[in-house]
Order: sequence, then C-alpha cells, then structure tokens
Amino acid sequence: MDKYIVKGGKKLFGEVEISGAKNAAVAIIPAALMVNGVCRIENLPQISDTDKLLEILSLMGAQVRLVNKTTVDVDCTNVYLSDEIFELTKAIRASYYLIGSMLGRFGEARTTMPGGCNFGVRPIDQHIKGMKALGATMNIGNGLICASARDGRLKGNRVYLDKVSVGATINIMIAAVLAKGQTVIENAAREPHIVDLANFLNSMGADVRGAGTTTIKVRGVEALHGGTYALIPDQIEAGTYMAAVAAAGGEVRVTNVIPKHLDCISAKLVEMGVEIEEGDDYVTVKRDAVLRHTNVKTLPYPGFPTDMQPQISTVLCLAEGTSIVTEGVWDNRFKYINELRKMGAEIHVDGKVAVIEGVSGLTGAPVAACDLRAGAAMVIAGLCAEGTTTIEDVEYIERGYQDIVGKLRKLGADIVAVTEPNDPADKTATASAG
Ligand code: UD1
Repeated sequence: MDKYIVKGGKKLFGEVEISGAKNAAVAIIPAALMVNGVCRIENLPQISDTDKLLEILSLMGAQVRLVNKTTVDVDCTNVYLSDEIFELTKAIRASYYLIGSMLGRFGEARTTMPGGCNFGVRPIDQHIKGMKALGATMNIGNGLICASARDGRLKGNRVYLDKVSVGATINIMIAAVLAKGQTVIENAAREPHIVDLANFLNSMGADVRGAGTTTIKVRGVEALHGGTYALIPDQIEAGTYMAAVAAAGGEVRVTNVIPKHLDCISAKLVEMGVEIEEGDDYVTVKRDAVLRHTNVKTLPYPGFPTDMQPQISTVLCLAEGTSIVTEGVWDNRFKYINELRKMGAEIHVDGKVAVIEGVSGLTGAPVAACDLRAGAAMVIAGLCAEGTTTIEDVEYIERGYQDIVGKLRKLGADIVAVTEPNDPADKTATASAG
C-alpha cells in the first residue's frame, strides 16, 4: 500500500494547475450512459473514481477510449444492463447516479447500494422519492437496488426535495432528461457541478433550465446525441491548495479555476489574514503574516463547502485564538481530528461543533487518511508541521486528487509517495467518495 512521507516546514511558491472537477466528472460519466453516439469528455481528472466509473460503463458494453490523459471518448450506443458492475458500484458513492441514467436509458435499473465515506448516515431517501415521483417502482434489498419505470419510460413530475441534496438533485435531473414531459425539481441544490451537469446534458440535446437556482425544470426529450464537453475546474482541489498555502506560508498562483466558485473559501481565508488576488482564471494566494482565528459553518453552496471542512480546520489549528467550526451537512465528519491531535492540535469536538484552540505549530507524526478530504487535511498538516509526517491509507486521497504529490513537489514541498508490498491481510478499500 502507498503512503506519503512529508517533511514539513517548507513554504510553497510557484504555480499549480487545477484539474477538472471530480464531483462533475462522477455525475457526467454515469449520465453519458444515456447518450447515443460518441460523447467526448475533456478536462477529465485522472483519479481513481473516474477510472472506476469508466470501467463500469465498459462492463455495460460502452466503447471507452482515452484520447489523451484528460480526454476520453465514450460511446454508449450499444449498452446493456450487466450484473458484472456490482463489485465496482459497491465501492463508489457516485454509482447511485446510475439509477437515474439506467432508468432513463433502459426504463429499468440494476445496481448496488453505493459506497461512501463514512461521515454519518448517508441516506438516499430523496433519490428514491424522486424516482418514484417520476413513475419508477423501487425495490431495495440485499444491498441491491432494482427499479423499473411504469410502461417502460419515466414520466415527468414535480419533485420537492425535503432536504437540499446534491446527490438527489443530480440523480433526478439525470432521470428526467429522457422522461416523457416536464419535471420540476424544487428546493434543488445549487453546486457548480450541478450547473456543469446541466450544461453537459444540454450540449447533448437535453432541455434543462434553472440549474444553479433552487428550481430546475427538465423538459424530457426523445434521445441524446453525441458531442464534446469540457468539465469545469475542481473547486475543492483549488480550495485545498489555497488552504495548503495558508498553512505552510508562501505565495502560489492557483490556475485554471473559476474564481467565483472559490468566493466562499477565499472569504474565510481573507478573514484569517491570507492575501488573495483574483484574476480571470486564477487566484494568487499569499500568506506571510500570523493567521487569525475565525468561525466556519459548512452549508450547501454558496455556503462554505463541507468538502473543505477538514482542510480549513487544519489551517485554523495554526491561527491565533479560538475558532469554531460547525459541520452543517454531515453528522460525523470530525473523525480525522484524532489524527490532528497526534500532531499537537488542540481541538474539542462536541457533536457537529469543533472548538479549535490555535497552537504555535504542529509536529510530525504517523497518521492515517480517514477519507478523501480528511486525507488532504493530513497532507496540509504534514506540510506545516515540524519534522516528518507519515500518512497511511492514501488510496483515499488518490480517489479525488490528481497527482497531489507531483503538484506539491513543484511548489517546493518535501513530500514523496512510497509503495510498500501489499499485505493480503490488509483491508481492501471499501469506502468511497467524498
Ligand atoms: C455532499 C455535499 C457535497 C459533497 C459531498 C461529499 C452538500 C449539500 N452536499 O453531497 O457538496 O461534495 O457531500 O462530501 O454540501 N440527504 C438525505 N437524503 C437523501 C440524500 C441526502 O437526507 O436522499 C442528506 C444527507 O444525509 C446530508 C445532506 O442531505 O445530510 C446532503 O447530502 P447530499 O448533498 O445528497 O450529499 P452528497 O451528494 O454526497
């Protein structure tokens, strides 16, 4: 298994290019199942979650061809349902988007309950409610999800989400694209990758309006045609490098970003005394002063993203004074704090609230990546800690960050990935997406 060894204390300087958005990719690849013809996806991040989703499509009869490192052609003209995908669908959260795309494509769906980072109960009741509203019969048992559309095709309807859910918004949007008639999703999530998915679907012939607002209207079409689509840059990857500079110090230009998507993150870093300059498609992040404490509460977009909570909490460990971080999306997303404590962090957790007392520095220690974003937080902690930090279970990190070691090394960080012989007694990765 791989681990990272980080020797902390080096400031970061230079330029880092952000890859395509993971959360857009993991929605768009399943949605490509509904496209008749070649669908070219550009700016695809090279991460294990997208590799697995492309493999799932291959197992369903899709022709998948890598054009270059970040461009893939997917041709789903001759796809079929296959139980061979179950081992893979079990391992990733985003496999639940196949429920929507299979129902759209075949009028029926067969997949497993999704995997998922374990930060509390991850219900899919809103996804199910949406599919049922569109006329699907849902059978769930023995870890399998089997669904079928009455009369072989979903029918548009009005769906009010009881909770702002990114996953349910995406799934219902996908399912509605090939349904008969109009679907209206109320209380929809507004994340940038929801807008990206809508743009992708529309470029393939769908009729989706209102993505990015709380009401999304999808007028069903008869078929989707091939086309070319470039994914947006990854908001969370960009935010992670911004947090790394805030923690380690230095000055870095983060390129290939949409600065507007980073406003929620930039605002907090500025409150902490970090200097941020915005360009058209880059932000420059500079930190040479003492960090100030602040409070953060995670919320659906445009609020502060839950996927940046572990990284910003790590930066706050080094800020003068007491900071309060409230997790507003998940019940149990503070497990990584035990790892930070091993490095000298002073944090008290009570339910969904973490009280962070700033310390003058962290010290290197052996730690583990509890999940994808928690793993990124360990990397940030290692970069600013005194001494050596060894991070285990980095396969979680590699599910969502393209070449994090290479990108940080270019900025001057002392980080290496080392591979150790795989012990068959080791656990296999069962958890997934963040
Ligand atoms: C959430 C985040 C997303 C992040 C991802 C991984 C939000 C709103 N969403 O998306 O930004 O990338 O985690 O970390 O910040 N829920 C239900 N029933 C459902 C679906 C969800 O009750 O059917 C609840 C969840 O328990 C959670 C909240 O709704 O408390 C948000 O869930 P949702 O947005 O669906 O999760 P993800 O799509 O995984």
